[in-house]
Amino acid sequence: MGTTFRLSSKHRIYNIACRMDLKNMIWRFRRKALFAGVSCFIFLIFYVETYTDSKPSHKHGLSPSERLVYNRRISDLRFNSSIELGWDELLDRQRSKSRLVQGAETVSSSLDSEDSNERHGKKGLKRGHKRSPDFVKRLPQAIIIGVKKSGTRALLEYLRLHPKIVAPGPEVHFFDKSYEEGLNWYRKQMPRSTPEQVTVEKSPSYFITEEVPQRIHDMSSTVKLLLVVRDPVQRAISDHTQSLSKGKTRTLEQRIMKETDPGAVDPESYIVKIGLYAKHFRRWLDSFPRSQILVVSGEDLVTKPADVMADVQEFLNLEKIVNEDYFFFNETKGFPCLKRDPHEAVPKCLDGSKGRHHPDVNPEILEKLRRFYKPYNEQFYKLVNVNFHWR
Ligand code: A3P
Repeated sequence: MGTTFRLSSKHRIYNIACRMDLKNMIWRFRRKALFAGVSCFIFLIFYVETYTDSKPSHKHGLSPSERLVYNRRISDLRFNSSIELGWDELLDRQRSKSRLVQGAETVSSSLDSEDSNERHGKKGLKRGHKRSPDFVKRLPQAIIIGVKKSGTRALLEYLRLHPKIVAPGPEVHFFDKSYEEGLNWYRKQMPRSTPEQVTVEKSPSYFITEEVPQRIHDMSSTVKLLLVVRDPVQRAISDHTQSLSKGKTRTLEQRIMKETDPGAVDPESYIVKIGLYAKHFRRWLDSFPRSQILVVSGEDLVTKPADVMADVQEFLNLEKIVNEDYFFFNETKGFPCLKRDPHEAVPKCLDGSKGRHHPDVNPEILEKLRRFYKPYNEQFYKLVNVNFHWR
């Protein structure tokens, strides 16, 4: 008993002495402790900003359920190497729901950078590259400027097969809808890249927005522009099909014909106006030389993707890596599906919002549309010096 008492009291005295010592130490070194604490905090902030970019997706207007879909897409991309993207569809839904377009199209770019890092990891980017000071977000050196419903997503995904290409998944819409956010904001939407890689973004409505060519030129006079064009009649039907899929009920006729004269196509109708390629293209030629714009046939993207990619890679001064081995024509879907590498057993197709089945169109309306577009198409062929042979 006695021994126990002596031991425990010793223990207590020892404890008090220790605590006092600790208090004394803290008191003596309080300035240093404060300095160390503040330094740790600053380092932590710097680390989070530089290496994680953990932007909450609610900032971009996604509801919890949409966030779930989005996150699932991301994990698909990361772990299943799937390219069945639903960006356009997801963001379209988001836009039509909230109309809060600013920033809404751009979901976390860090995820894109991680995605691209992972995709290209096997192809040469070393582990630890992410930590390299050269692995940073850069303004795009190439932009897919349009045209909506012509194959812009397909072109971007074909390009992403190339190890030297990085691109944000969602459309950024900086030059038309978020310009006031500034170039630094724009840069932050891009995935990280190495100095050898080319950053590409696509926002199809740039093509028809008046201010955009000059704005892009103000950012860079050397940026390369890619324009995908498709028979404007088919483009209009595709646009209309997309509207129907979103629950809109107006018929094609109601959307494209003049209210005052139902027999005539209305050039001011939104889906008709987009197809006046010559009119829009002239504006781009005011800001950029023709040689800086590659015009890609949307029809060729479907029937001969490898040939298109040869031209695109040459235009971007890239080694011609993406060739016919990367494509597999899926007869059921009626479109080329992609192989991440030529040995991949199961090619991945673009998601269901691309390559939709078009509804039957009244042949009279079809003929009217064709006749309407004919002179504009001829002008466009002359401007770009390519005959697309649209009917
Ligand atoms: P449809 O869905 O009307 O067939 P965008 O990406 O600019 O919205 O263009 C969509 C169009 O891309 C599709 O229109 C489809 O015709 C075309 N497309 C081109 N290549 C494709 C591919 N490999 N898979 C699916 N659609 C493709």
